[in-house]
Amino acid sequence: MNSSLLGKVAVVTGASRGIGRAIAESYAKYGAKVVVSDIDNSEGQTTVESINNAGGNAVYFHADVSCAKAHQELVDFAMKTYGRLDIACNNAGIAPPSFKVADVPIDLWHKVIKINLDGVFYGARAQIPAMLKNGGGTIVNISSILGKVAFPELGAYSPSKHGVIGLTKQIALDYAPQNIRSIAIGPAFIQTELLDGLSPDFDSLLKLHPIGRLGKPNEIGEAVASLCSDSFSFLNGAYVPIDGGFLTQ
Ligand SMILES: NC(=O)c1ccc[n+]([C@@H]2O[C@H](COP(=O)([O-])OP(=O)(O)OC[C@H]3O[C@@H](n4cnc5c(N)ncnc54)[C@H](O)[C@@H]3O)[C@@H](O)[C@H]2O)c1
Repeated sequence: MNSSLLGKVAVVTGASRGIGRAIAESYAKYGAKVVVSDIDNSEGQTTVESINNAGGNAVYFHADVSCAKAHQELVDFAMKTYGRLDIACNNAGIAPPSFKVADVPIDLWHKVIKINLDGVFYGARAQIPAMLKNGGGTIVNISSILGKVAFPELGAYSPSKHGVIGLTKQIALDYAPQNIRSIAIGPAFIQTELLDGLSPDFDSLLKLHPIGRLGKPNEIGEAVASLCSDSFSFLNGAYVPIDGGFLTQ
């Protein structure tokens, strides 16, 4: 399999820690130059150092994904720094406290949608024109298994992640003729700080994963980097679960 990303330029949002950091590291490992983006500048620099110390090529740019202008500035920075944009991973997201639908505070609903769904739309809106300048590219949107199924009392999160899958299909349909691929990723529960916010009962979470454990960030990073390579050139508009079998039950 040719998983090389040599010569490609990638942007990853929410790359200061967790899944985003792992994706940025995998992109760099397979040869891409990477713009690491987040709102946590200090940890973002740690991601950059980790990549550059391993022989890769990365720079940091601060961008809040809930702001459309910030996405444009991020893409402009990538173009100015590396001259092109081939891969964008819209990864940044938040997990809010648990509420049943009728109990979700309205401001919380808007906050989750603004980061988890608007943030992906704003990203694609800025990334697509840049990719078209170099004949196409790949947009990876991090959804969740909870983009396919609901989960008790995740009244805002699960709807936001379902929306990401719909948006991914729409991008694929509209831009496939111009050589832009769009893929939605569905991680199951992955060991990151995001789970702290969910206060999970770990034993019951483990039982939901037939593999018998939660996932690791690098297991998402490696898969995403492969999916962005030319080996997957005919994959477009797909939802790809990476879930230790979660969705089989
Ligand atoms: N961890 C899981 O179990 C899991 C499962 C499925 C999907 N996901 C999704 O994967 C993505 C990454 O999750 P994670 O577990 O690594 O989370 P995390 O909380 O460990 O990291 C999220 C990163 O996003 C950044 N971020 C938050 N709000 C932002 C904003 N407005 N603009 C820019 N950056 C922002 C944070 O600073 C942080 O660096 C999210 O979209 C999440 O919904 C996570």
